[in-house]
Amino acid sequence: MNFIRGQDLSFRAGGDLPEASEAVEMLYEFAGMSAKDTYKLVVSTIVPRPIAWVTTQNSQGQLNAAPYSFFNAMSGQPPILVLGIGNRENGEPKDTLKNIQETGQFVINLVNQELASAMNVTATPFPYGINELEQAGLTTSPAQLVKPPKITESPVAFECELLQTVRVCEANTIVIGRALAMHIQDRYLLDAAKHYVNTPELKLIGRMHGAGWYTNTSELFQIERYTVESWEAAKDDQTGN
Ligand SMILES: Cc1cc2nc3c(=O)[nH]c(=O)nc-3n(C[C@H](O)[C@H](O)[C@H](O)COP(=O)(O)O)c2cc1C
Repeated sequence: MNFIRGQDLSFRAGGDLPEASEAVEMLYEFAGMSAKDTYKLVVSTIVPRPIAWVTTQNSQGQLNAAPYSFFNAMSGQPPILVLGIGNRENGEPKDTLKNIQETGQFVINLVNQELASAMNVTATPFPYGINELEQAGLTTSPAQLVKPPKITESPVAFECELLQTVRVCEANTIVIGRALAMHIQDRYLLDAAKHYVNTPELKLIGRMHGAGWYTNTSELFQIERYTVESWEAAKDDQTGN
């Protein structure tokens, strides 16, 4: 058995609703669960995930592009960007991983609302060597420090070199890359010298759950960070004292 239903606290004499902290819960213990089931639980709860639209080339220079949402930044300087790449269903490694291992280079392009459909085309499992970007009607322009090109239409692109791959099991490999340079279309810069980016205007999308759900990044809210002093001053208001 790999799931355990927690103590059911929803029934109370008198019909009280449970407090949020006492809500009924399910515990899934991952050891022994199938890859498909754990994947479902992870991708439907760790959301939204940013999307790395990765361009690579094989050693003959053939271009490849595919989206990856097991993706994030792990450090600011050096800028470390990480991808999680699974095998294809037939057990073969994906072209992105093959190419990164072959050449040590890749470009991570970011995806906005306008590019969502084109990005989706590039996730089609075309045979090795088919140029997904051509299929999606997209164009490329040269990177400066690495060989794979960037996607011209993408608002932001990071030129990356491979630092390390970590094979976590037969089917999944984590790619750790170091970003060497970042391209950003001028219209998204508020002040280039101060490195101010107009992030809301980028209209980047995030991957959600299930088959094909995404989110926009347009419903923003702001929370200011406290100092200990400002927290001390604010806490009575927060706790209603
Ligand atoms: C939005 C989105 C996110 C994806 N994220 C991942 C991921 O994180 N890891 C992965 O292995 N495949 C992911 N995929 C599937 C790959 O993009 C797909 O298998 C693709 O065909 C791989 O192409 P390649 O063989 O050219 O690298 C994702 C697909 C989509 C549409």
